[in-house]
Amino acid sequence: MTEQVATNITWHEGTVTPEERLKNMGQKGATFWFTGLSGSGKSTIAVAVEQVLLNRGHHAYRLDGDNIRMGLNKNLGFSPEDRTENIRRIGEVSKLFADAGVLSIASFISPYTEDRDQVRALHAENGVPFFECYIDCSLEAAEERDPKGLYKKARSGEIKGFTGIDAPYEEPANAELHIKTHEDDLETCVAKVIDFIDEQNLFA
Ligand code: ADX
Repeated sequence: MTEQVATNITWHEGTVTPEERLKNMGQKGATFWFTGLSGSGKSTIAVAVEQVLLNRGHHAYRLDGDNIRMGLNKNLGFSPEDRTENIRRIGEVSKLFADAGVLSIASFISPYTEDRDQVRALHAENGVPFFECYIDCSLEAAEERDPKGLYKKARSGEIKGFTGIDAPYEEPANAELHIKTHEDDLETCVAKVIDFIDEQNLFA
């Protein structure tokens, strides 16, 4: 748990009610947390899902591991501690987006169960819907795809501590949605995610 450092701070409550926000946005915000191996298809599915939601007039926004690591989290690497801090920060950001009424689609390897559970707990404490979506792909299939050539580098030792090779990935035990990208094609995976989102009663 990250310690609260600042003292003499007070939570300042707003006056906008959840009902007002729902009316204003035409939807309730939520976090859809995509976890899975590098190359599993998280980002590809997230891009397509975001586009479908926008085309339907909903408010959606994608938070992506590589992208966030170029900005907010540019001071973090891939040690276990840095990955934990990466997930903690993005969990906070995603909660804020969702609290603002946006459908936040967060795609991060997020290899540690404890870190994902912290993000889940943070959302629960704030009454913000959170759905863990396991974007499952066998290591063999991810390595075969190797879209960024990183598995090759990890196998040759050029990259150390690569998830699935010499760093762990802890599979979700209780994900709300389980997508298998080595079995279904992209279109089917996207349709399954959209169907799942539609089932959550988020739209006014
Ligand atoms: S996480 O483990 O902290 O959740 P995150 O999703 O932000 O990772 O970033 C993963 C992306 O960083 C991968 O898709 C890959 O492009 C890149 N990457 C670079 N080095 C590593 C590494 N050692 N392990 C995993 N991914 C890495």
